Amino acid sequence: MRQLFYSISDVPKGYQVSKLRPVPLPTGVLMCPPTFFNVIDVKNPFMEGQIGQVNTQLALKQWQDLRYSFLKIGLKVSLIDPAPEREDMVFCANQTFVGLNALEKKICVLSHMKFPSRQQEVPRFEKWFQAFGYEIKTLPYTSSILFEGGGDAVWHPNRALIWGGYGQRSNKEVYTYISEVFDAPVCILELKTEKFYHLDTCFCPIDENTVLVYPPSLTQKSLELIAYFFKEVIEVNQHEAMELMACNAAAFFNKCVVIQEKSNEINEKLKSLGFRVIEVDTSEYMKSGGSVFCMKMALW
Ligand code: ARG
Repeated sequence: MRQLFYSISDVPKGYQVSKLRPVPLPTGVLMCPPTFFNVIDVKNPFMEGQIGQVNTQLALKQWQDLRYSFLKIGLKVSLIDPAPEREDMVFCANQTFVGLNALEKKICVLSHMKFPSRQQEVPRFEKWFQAFGYEIKTLPYTSSILFEGGGDAVWHPNRALIWGGYGQRSNKEVYTYISEVFDAPVCILELKTEKFYHLDTCFCPIDENTVLVYPPSLTQKSLELIAYFFKEVIEVNQHEAMELMACNAAAFFNKCVVIQEKSNEINEKLKSLGFRVIEVDTSEYMKSGGSVFCMKMALW
């Protein structure tokens, strides 16, 4: 099955997310120790002015605290070996997109990353996922068609529905294949600003009904699709979206949300809706344009 929604006019009448195939929530995460993490070039606007500014010791502490937060929630934390000169490998969300197909088989689609230095991370993740029983899939496109995995493709919690961002690091063409492989419809969202370069920097599903969004980063069509599929759309303010990367949070079972600390407005809102907010500090990783969501790949 291949089904793509670019706007609400593509969605069949009466279509409801609650009727889509249920998909279990992930039970674990994959992380990569930040042994070689650094900012050595500018791949996104968050990295401007940050070359050589990473405090390595603090980065290690923050990564360990994040790992501990995941463990405390009850997630199984798996690790992939870091590699020298792969300074962005700590961002485990980008090299692949993983999930379950209609037969609940574990699938891993390999990314076509934009930057040559990051392209070399992909084979390492391929090996890891193969060893852990995922079926590896390669995109049927030339390598000039880009796809940055879980940075741009995000599962709707509990349901066989995928949200696919494009415009900066991924091309929309890839979602035809993603929809077929996972036998799930894809809602395609256009990222219209350079700053919010991955979907996970401005859009974060919290549960089946709730999502965090930074509206200025998305087109009107995309915002309408989001409003159609989520009952509760929480708008993140500019400070929390840009300075604290609050949309790069990660939500798990038991209503737990792990998020950058001091995202006060969002965190209060989440608490008022009954979510358990676990605040962490990812200041060193935000210098590279990443926070909680992209420092792990969710695993089943
Ligand atoms: N420096 C990395 C890059 O620009 C950061 C990636 C963060 N990942 C994310 N999904 N937002 O590729």
